[in-house]
Amino acid sequence: MANKTPAIRTVTVRAPVNIAVIKYWGKSDEKLIIPLNDSISGTLDMEQMCATTSVALSAQFTSNRMWLNGEEVDMTANARLLRCIEEVKTMLSPGEWPSGHHLNIVSVNNFPTAAGLASSAAGYAALMYALCQLFGIDDAARISTLARLGSGSACRSLYGGFVQWVAGADHATSTARQLLGEAGWPSMRVLVLVVSDHRKDTSSTAGMALTVQTSPLMAHRAAAVVPGRVREMAAAIASRDFDAFARLTMADSNQFHAVCADTYPPIRYMNDVSWSVVSLVHRLNSSSNSSGSKGGAALVAYTFDAGPNACLYLLEEAVPTVLAALNAAYAPKKEKGETQLEVKGIQYQQKVKLNKEMADHAAAVVRPGALKYVISTKLGPGPQVLTRTLGDEVSLMAANGLPKL
Ligand code: PMV
Repeated sequence: MANKTPAIRTVTVRAPVNIAVIKYWGKSDEKLIIPLNDSISGTLDMEQMCATTSVALSAQFTSNRMWLNGEEVDMTANARLLRCIEEVKTMLSPGEWPSGHHLNIVSVNNFPTAAGLASSAAGYAALMYALCQLFGIDDAARISTLARLGSGSACRSLYGGFVQWVAGADHATSTARQLLGEAGWPSMRVLVLVVSDHRKDTSSTAGMALTVQTSPLMAHRAAAVVPGRVREMAAAIASRDFDAFARLTMADSNQFHAVCADTYPPIRYMNDVSWSVVSLVHRLNSSSNSSGSKGGAALVAYTFDAGPNACLYLLEEAVPTVLAALNAAYAPKKEKGETQLEVKGIQYQQKVKLNKEMADHAAAVVRPGALKYVISTKLGPGPQVLTRTLGDEVSLMAANGLPKL
């Protein structure tokens, strides 16, 4: 009788993107990826944005190979990736990864890669989650610590909802923990405004190293500003205080881009369209809040990562008004008829009529066609296993463990 043990062991998972509201920028240990300060992020729903990864281990494979978004990549050139795989090996008992067995890894993102949209966070979270699942390691804290070695912010993608990365002092203590599950603030919504889906110019690794070396403001930020903000943000999230949440989110995005500007030579991730979004958000917030009263609580908060795309956090009731303002400011112009921004993901009524003040705010920043599209999403859970079967509908691999065509 032939041995029925599967010759190829496999799992397919998906992992979410996270968008920081208190930013990580700067390491105290480059090799271990220990950050200078704690950070806090929201995990986005995988229905709209995620990395899906299939891994397979087999004696049939003669070397480790990886395909990213349809193209084979040279794994030997990626020291961090190799390090992550070695770390997993150290967690296994002898023989669990039989000698002569190699990995195939196939990963795809359902959103633009490396445009400052946290693709590496989702990618490393998916890869480390998948590898750990392959060997029955299910402890989110351990997987978070491992994912950190691939891309710092990836450690936050192991949990849903709002997540804090505690800077820690060494490899074991620098890890993420959940502050609030995705169901804990059900009205929270996110609009990702895609200004550009091109690859960013300065990688976050190179950028933050230069900032730490050259920016006097960076040391002040890490020591004197962020600790207080992390406490205030955790309290705002715990009490679902959107106004405090929004103000802290915007202030911290601004300071992150200020330390970029304070880097020598300076780093610039936001462009003119990004700045017009900042202007529009402050105008909207200055004149009205979600319940319609004047000059009250913030309606919407922006945050920008290492790229020009804006990420807006807002409550569900504010979405139609904000989308209407975005349409008035950025929808492409047509000779005839109405045009609308392309909104992918959760759909809303976009036809609300703006009051005169709101319409004036949109008119003040108007740039028809400046936004490529909007991804409309919400908070979501941490990584999930999709299948443990090779070659089924969900796996990214055919029955032989190679990428499906
Ligand atoms: O994890 P990295 O190296 O991709 O750095 C991410 C840095 C920011 O996205 C700009 C901020 C953050 O906290 O996610």
